[in-house]
This record gives sequence, C-alpha cells and structure tokens, in this order.
Amino acid sequence: MSKIRVAVFGCGAIAQRRHIPEYAANPNVELVAFADPLKERAEEVAAQYGAKAYTDYKELLKNEKLDAVSVCTPNYLHASMSIDAANAGLHVLVEKPMATTKEEGEQMIEAARKSGVFLMVGHNQRLMPPHVKAKEILDSGKLGKVLTFRTSFGHGGPESWSVDGRDSWFFRKDEAIMGAMGDLGVHKSDFIRYLLNDEIVEVAGFIGTVHKEGTDVDDNATCIVRMKNGAVGTLMASWTHYRSGDNGTVLWCENGCMKIGTVEGDEVIVELTNGTVETYKVGAMATNEKQVPSGVIDAFVESILTNTPPQISGEEGLRSLNVILGAFESQDTGKIVKL
Ligand SMILES: NC(=O)c1ccc[n+]([C@@H]2O[C@H](COP(=O)([O-])OP(=O)(O)OC[C@H]3O[C@@H](n4cnc5c(N)ncnc54)[C@H](O)[C@@H]3O)[C@@H](O)[C@H]2O)c1
Repeated sequence: MSKIRVAVFGCGAIAQRRHIPEYAANPNVELVAFADPLKERAEEVAAQYGAKAYTDYKELLKNEKLDAVSVCTPNYLHASMSIDAANAGLHVLVEKPMATTKEEGEQMIEAARKSGVFLMVGHNQRLMPPHVKAKEILDSGKLGKVLTFRTSFGHGGPESWSVDGRDSWFFRKDEAIMGAMGDLGVHKSDFIRYLLNDEIVEVAGFIGTVHKEGTDVDDNATCIVRMKNGAVGTLMASWTHYRSGDNGTVLWCENGCMKIGTVEGDEVIVELTNGTVETYKVGAMATNEKQVPSGVIDAFVESILTNTPPQISGEEGLRSLNVILGAFESQDTGKIVKL
C-alpha cells in the first residue's frame, strides 16, 4: 500500500515535539513538506526528513501532491488553513482550539463534509493513559453516577513551551484570541465531556489577566459548569501555576471518588464508599517538560487508512470550544450562559 503523504503547517513546538516525530515513527506515512514563515525553521525540519520547505502554505498546497495535513499554527490561522486544505481534498488534523469562533468551526466542518475528507482535532487529553483508565473505570459503572467534580489544567505559561518563548504569538490577542482558556481550558472542557459522556449545558466564567505582563490575553480562569445529567463542577485553566502545575481531575460519585492525575506514581485512585481503595499505575500524564507520544497522530493515520471517521471529530472539537466561548460570554456579561 502506498504511504499517506503528509504536510505540516507551522514548525513550532507542537509540530516539533509531537506531530513531526509521531508521523516520522509511523511506517504508513511519508512527510512530504513543511510550511513556516520562518524559512530556516521549515528548512531545518525539511532537511531532516528529506522533505520540501515552504514559507507560504498556499504555495505548498499548489505544488505538492498530498493526502493529509496537520495544522500546527497560531489559533487565528486554524480555520482558514483547515478550510483551504479540505477544499484541496486533504484530510485535516488541526490543533486545539480548533477555531476561535463557532462560525469558523462550523465552516471547517462544512468544508470537510463537502470535500468528503476527515477533520480531526488534536484533543490528546482523551488518549493519555490515566484518562483512558479513568474512562474505563467510570464506564464500568462501579462508581455510579457522577455528582460533582473539579478539573484543572495549569502550568507556568507558554513562555517556556513556544519556540518563540516570551515573544510568542500565545501572548498576542490578535493571533491567540484566547490565552489560558484556549490553550488549557479547552483541553478540560473536551476531557470532561468525553469522560462523563455528557454535555455541558451551563457555564459561568471568571476569566482574567491576573499576573502576566505586557499581554491582554487571559492567564487564569475559574468556571462553574453544569452537565446535562445534573452534575456540577469546576473547570480551571491557569498560566500562573509557577510551581506545582496541575493537570488533575477529581470526580465525586454515588459510590465513591476517583482522583486522576493528582498523585505522582498513582495516576488513578478509586476510593469506594465501602472502604476499598484501588490505585492504578498506568503511566504519567504528559507535561511540557516530559513529552510522551500523544497517540493523536497514529489515530488520525488509522482513520485515513481504514476510512473510518475520527472519534475526535470536528463536531466534538466544536462542542468543546463552545464551552470556552460560553465562559468568555459569561465573563463579559456577568451572566450564566446556557449552551
Ligand atoms: N495538543 C496540545 O497539547 C497542544 C500543546 C501545545 C500547543 N498546541 C496548539 O498547537 C498550535 C501551535 O502551538 P505551538 O505550541 O506549536 O506554538 P509555537 O509558537 O511553538 O509555534 C507556532 C509556529 O507557527 C508558525 N507560524 C506562524 N504563522 C504561520 C503561517 N502563516 N504558516 C505556517 N506557520 C506559521 C510560527 O512561525 C511557529 O513556528 C496552537 O494552536 C496551540 O494551541 C496544542
């Protein structure tokens, strides 16, 4: 079988740390071309994989024969690049947040539908081993109904992650549109929807720029959310957890409590009301410092190979984005927003 020919738009941190190495490790993929306005950045990866470098993704689309692309660029470019690629008949794996508005998200889904290509969103939290285990336990029913929860994602901010450090687009509102909420909050809105197999129907958001200087994007958010089945919980996103970053979720259920990613070494802990405590060592959550394969790229390739729609679809990405957009609306209006 011929290999899937892939191009990557944006050659920054997420491309270099996950998309490119994970494509390179997949025997069914050929990395064909890279685009980044910083010529040397694109050329460096292109040389490494015997691929072509472009500064303009539109030129790349015009010149190369491809099957799929990864969109790993600043948030404001996700929609236009994904739509151009879909219109060119290519499968698209776009990073989160999939878009910056509901309308953009809908246009992306429509473009993919019209071209008969797959649109997948890089919500890798779903595939992290502790989260896979937690979902398996919750789905088993032994904890009963989820009553209340907290889910949180915080670290010291993208200055130590982005290829451009403190000068990164992450801090420029016209390119990022959202700060910690678009970076981290959307991971948790997606994860909690997925884990609980339920939808967030109401959100109240307290969002602000609490500590980062020289930026007007949000660096902290605390939201209260209500699920369709009645559970209520909090969702936090922070770029100011300078120590003790948090990527944990705790569910309090009818029959006990499940702690996910709260204790190093015991990634999932189940404390049942009958007194039993179960601990599961299933491998750590990825952190900015310690990257582990995301599994997202292999899942995308598998979808294409088997002609099976991706589970982390554009529709899923949009529902998770809408929670974050609702939280901003709540912050702006001072009201609880119904979704
Ligand atoms: N799934 C995850 O866990 C995860 C983690 C980090 C970032 N991300 C997402 O990935 C995306 C990229 O973030 P990053 O951390 O790699 O940022 P980054 O700052 O490290 O890299 C962004 C790259 O995009 C390039 N770029 C800018 N304009 C471009 C254009 N017109 N065409 C092509 N390339 C262009 C920049 O030059 C830079 O090399 C963001 O949307 C971010 O939210 C996802």
